[in-house]
Amino acid sequence: MKVINTIAALKSLLEPLKLTQQKIALVPTMGALHKGHVSLIKIAQLQADVVVCSIFVNPTQFTDPKDLEKYPRPLEHDMKMLEDAGCNVVFMPSVTEMYPAPEEWHIDLGPAEFLLEGEFRRGHYQGVTQIVKKLFDAVNPDVAFFGQKDFQQVLMIKNMVAHFEMPIQIVSCPIIREDDGLAMSSRNIHLTEADRKNALVLSQALLFVKNNFSSLSVPQLLEEAKKLINETPGVELDYFTIANGETLLPEVDKSHHDIVALVAAKVGQTRLIDNMILR
Ligand code: PAF
Repeated sequence: MKVINTIAALKSLLEPLKLTQQKIALVPTMGALHKGHVSLIKIAQLQADVVVCSIFVNPTQFTDPKDLEKYPRPLEHDMKMLEDAGCNVVFMPSVTEMYPAPEEWHIDLGPAEFLLEGEFRRGHYQGVTQIVKKLFDAVNPDVAFFGQKDFQQVLMIKNMVAHFEMPIQIVSCPIIREDDGLAMSSRNIHLTEADRKNALVLSQALLFVKNNFSSLSVPQLLEEAKKLINETPGVELDYFTIANGETLLPEVDKSHHDIVALVAAKVGQTRLIDNMILR
C-alpha cells in the first residue's frame, strides 16, 4: 500500500495507470475508519483496478470549531485497517496542500442544500463539495464510493458532479450497522454506555417506519416514530422526516418511486444521523 501526501506525487503515480486504461476508484474519508469504510473499499475493489482511499479531516465542512477539534484521528489504526482491506493507495494530504491559500467557494447545489442537515449545519455542503471537488481533481477517478448513511451528502456530491459535468460515477453504498442496528459512524466512539443504548432508538424508529410503511399513513408513521424518539431519555430530536429521495422535501404520496426516512438527533453530546430507504 502506497502512502502519498502531495497532489503532485499522487498525479505522477496515477496518471500512467490511467493511460493504460486502468479503472481508478476513490473512497474519500476523514479517517477514524470502521467497518462501514471497509465495505466501501471492498465494493470499490469489485469495480476498479486501483482503489485510492483519502484521509483528510476537512476544516471547511465543520460548522462548529469544537467538532473539528475533537474529531478522532487514530492514524495507526486507520493504516492497519486500510492495509488489511487491501487498499492500494492512501492519499493523506496536509491542510496547506489542499488549501494553499484562502479561497471562496460557492456553487449552486440546488434547494435541497438548505434542508435537513443543511438547515442545522449552514454551509456544511459547500465545504463538503469543495473538498470532494479538490480530491476528484487530484485523483481523477472513474468512480467514487460514498456511504448511504450520509444520504444528503451523496445527493449534494451528485449535484456538484453534474454542475461541473465531471465524468465520474458516484456510487452510494449500503449502510453498515452494528448487530443491534446502530449505524456505524466515526462519531459513535463519543457515545457513553448510556448514550450507546439510547442511540438505538434511531434505527428502531426507522425500522418501525419501514415495517409499517404499507399499512399506516405518512402522518401516522411520523407521529409514532417521533414519539418513540422523544420518549427516549438523553435523545434530542432534530428532525425525523419521510422525504422524496431526490428533493428531500416531505413526501406524502406513498406511491412515489423514491422515498426515504431520515433522522438526526443529539444523543448525549453526540449528534447522529441515520436513514432507511422505503421505496
Ligand atoms: O463523509 C465524509 O467522511 C466526508 O464528508 C468526505 C466525503 C470525506 C468529505 O470530507
